[in-house]
Amino acid sequence: MINGGRKLKGKVSVQGSKNSALPILAAATLTNKKVILRNVPDISDIRAMLSILGYLNVKYEFENNVLEMDSSGIENKEIPEEMSNQLRASSLLLGPLLARFGTCSVGMPGGCSIGPRPLNIHFDGFEHLGSDIEVGESAVTATAEDIHGEYAMDLPSVGATQNLINASIFSKSATVLRNVAVEPEVMALIDFLQSMGAEIQFIEQNTVQVTGIQQLKGADFQIPFDRIEAGTLLVAAFATKGDITIKGAVADDMTAVLQKLKDMGAAIDVSVPNEIGLKYQGEFKPVSIRTGVHPAFPTDMQSQFSVLMTRAEESSVITETIFSNRFSHVREMAKMNAKVLVENDMAVIFNSQLTGCSVEGFDLRGTASMVIAGLIARGATRVSGLENMYRGYESFIEKLEYLGADVYYVDEIVDEMRKSG
Ligand code: EPU
Repeated sequence: MINGGRKLKGKVSVQGSKNSALPILAAATLTNKKVILRNVPDISDIRAMLSILGYLNVKYEFENNVLEMDSSGIENKEIPEEMSNQLRASSLLLGPLLARFGTCSVGMPGGCSIGPRPLNIHFDGFEHLGSDIEVGESAVTATAEDIHGEYAMDLPSVGATQNLINASIFSKSATVLRNVAVEPEVMALIDFLQSMGAEIQFIEQNTVQVTGIQQLKGADFQIPFDRIEAGTLLVAAFATKGDITIKGAVADDMTAVLQKLKDMGAAIDVSVPNEIGLKYQGEFKPVSIRTGVHPAFPTDMQSQFSVLMTRAEESSVITETIFSNRFSHVREMAKMNAKVLVENDMAVIFNSQLTGCSVEGFDLRGTASMVIAGLIARGATRVSGLENMYRGYESFIEKLEYLGADVYYVDEIVDEMRKSG
């Protein structure tokens, strides 16, 4: 429950990146040596991934955002669909298990309902690199004697890039992957693999060469900051006309988001390394946003901006080019009196005073956006569907409270879930 109208003020630390940690957890199964991962966010997607790893007999301890993993006793079992469908990132186990065992079966993935999320590029890539792929009713089986050759992706899929790099680590020769995604989360995976001794190089722009090696070392690796959590907090603060500083955030990984915040009228301060300050300066200007692959504006930030845009004096436009069903939050915003038009991949957001009511979040970023809507609405807003938010945000409500929001839990079940992670 949120009573709107309070300005967010103060300094908070950003969490570790969900979308970096998940592929890195999958890649950690490539080594028999101990892996220590620091700054791992304690969120339900990470817990779901860990329960799959535990099922595969990977030993782990996870406390205070430090994860110690030992995959020396890993067993190559089929991952049942009731486990794999807990999250999208379960599909990221295909690459590492294929590299390690030469064959693996993984149930179909789940994840947020933001449109169809096919794996055709992953499968096409595996096949071009010498693997057989068999897509069954509830699981996919990949088999390969060796992974090698060249593959150019139809579009730079983040997950397919990560899966194909992982699959290539023990290649008897080398693989070349073209048109790869270069999101910071892909670069983090490459850094992690290189820290274990993997041979991965960018040989041209957006082209990666992986030269196979026989085995990987262990690692002690820091998961980088979560640029989407940082962006979400900045948007929340700006929307409330606040003044905040995010500790641990690197501005260079967030240029498109910071640019749009500046364009809307926020003062952005990046003079202190690894800190981003934001201050409201008396106005909210309209902007146009078009989501795209990095370094363009990230799709994971558009729903938060759609709430912020209700503050702008004139209409703003969002064009979503990555996912086909990422405007479900708009229906909920309309319940709060937001004036928004959606047509296909485009939303037009008009100046509107939001009013509190009961709304629901249907996906991770959409739910966080409903919370931001509550912060700026007149009166009280009840947000349900928080379990979607806990897939990716570790202590979002607590951070907002610390920054001065009037927000509290009214549902004991959700509260229990939050505490148990
Ligand atoms: N696509 C295909 N075929 C494929 C793979 C992707 O058509 O085989 C399409 C997708 O349907 C989508 C587009 O390509 O339309 C981009 O998908 P991509 O594979 O790049 O995304 P992803 O790996 O499934 C990750 C993040 C998402 C984030 C996207 C884009 C993880 C676990 N998820 O998804 O994060 O939106 O990259 O940056 O890393 C979130 O955190 O809220 C979230 C959805």
